[in-house]
Amino acid sequence: MSAAPLTPLGLYVHWPFCARICPYCDFNVYRDRGVDADAWSAALVADLEYWARRIERRRLSSIYFGGGTPSLAPVPVIAEIIAAAERLFGLDAEVEVTLEANPGDADKKRMGAFAEAGVNRLSLGVQSFDDEALKFLGRDHNAASARRAIAMAQECFENSSFDLIYGRPDQSEDDWHAELSEALCFQPTHLSLYQLTIERGTAFATQVKAGRWTPAEEERQARHYEIAQDLTKAAGLDPYEVSNHAAPGHESRHNLIYWRYHDYVGIGPGAHGRLTVNGERIATKALDRPDAYLQQIDQRGDGAETIEILGDEAQLIERLSMGLRLSEGVPLYADDYFYRDEGRAGRLARLIEDGYLAHDCGALRATDTGRPVLNRLIYELIG
Ligand SMILES: C[S@@+](CC[C@H](N)C(=O)[O-])C[C@H]1O[C@@H](n2cnc3c(N)ncnc32)[C@H](O)[C@@H]1O
Ligand code: SF4
Repeated sequence: MSAAPLTPLGLYVHWPFCARICPYCDFNVYRDRGVDADAWSAALVADLEYWARRIERRRLSSIYFGGGTPSLAPVPVIAEIIAAAERLFGLDAEVEVTLEANPGDADKKRMGAFAEAGVNRLSLGVQSFDDEALKFLGRDHNAASARRAIAMAQECFENSSFDLIYGRPDQSEDDWHAELSEALCFQPTHLSLYQLTIERGTAFATQVKAGRWTPAEEERQARHYEIAQDLTKAAGLDPYEVSNHAAPGHESRHNLIYWRYHDYVGIGPGAHGRLTVNGERIATKALDRPDAYLQQIDQRGDGAETIEILGDEAQLIERLSMGLRLSEGVPLYADDYFYRDEGRAGRLARLIEDGYLAHDCGALRATDTGRPVLNRLIYELIG
């Protein structure tokens, strides 16, 4: 039997520093108090070299600088990682190289330097076009700088995207309709629309617990989600994933790697990776703390905190959780490991009958009814 063909390979680079920490954010982030550019370049390149030695060599179809705030990273650090990625793996002719940026850092000269280093896609954390809302979200930019940043991104990069957060406590349906309509006036080719989530351990979680404000109720969140679907579709953006909308051909290659459960290397503090090594699927996770990450790379050449082989069951849960987020769904054929547990076929049939899932042409998909309750669906399906 011939080995399964290798899937596209991505590289995720986590830059964990931010000018300040937003009250809703639970990513692996730290206040930027000035970084040693040489030390970070050397460490990130060493970590990448480690993974290049461990996995079968193949070209990268995507590099994604996420954070934290990678637009705060010194340009030479980003340039050196892209150059090392090219030297160690090779880059697809169509490689997508994304950098997340905060609108406040998006000055033309700096962004031009990132583009020169090889970045060809900018993802801007706009969050809102309302100054009061931006204050509430603890952002250090205002609506005017967000508008300027979008125009600049569209001018300087082949591809760009921006994020908005909806379902804020004081946001009415009309407010959201008006805000999203303004967003669509920029004719974006890609938009990420996130429902405000109160994450444990954040400043927002503390404020809500203390009764200082109440999150939007579920019904309003659901209406906001419907508004997002209706307006983006009318503007020609396909809801190819639960929170992501793109014009045809502008879907994020990098995020598709996650959702299609393909392979990606993860470097930088706290970064996760999923790789196929000697036919086994492994999950990698780098040390969270920047100082510990730098120190371990210095001492033993890699930043991994854990490297774990994933069994069939763990892979199935991950594959379904990721794939059902996509409108194309997840491949599911009769010989799939899924059917080894006989009860699952019955549960699947019930969820299809109840209108939450659809299964045709070899793909299992969440319907419009199923998408908003994905986590519950996966829980019920797996048993
Ligand atoms: C981790 S941030 C990195 C991007 C960049 N630092 C920024 O803030 O613009 C990626 C995106 O996740 C979204 N996000 C983070 N925490 C969220 C939350 N609790 N609820 C909704 N969206 C959230 C924001 O839209 C943000 O732009
Ligand atoms: S939302 Fe972005 S800028 Fe704010 S703390 Fe999180 S990563 Fe940093």
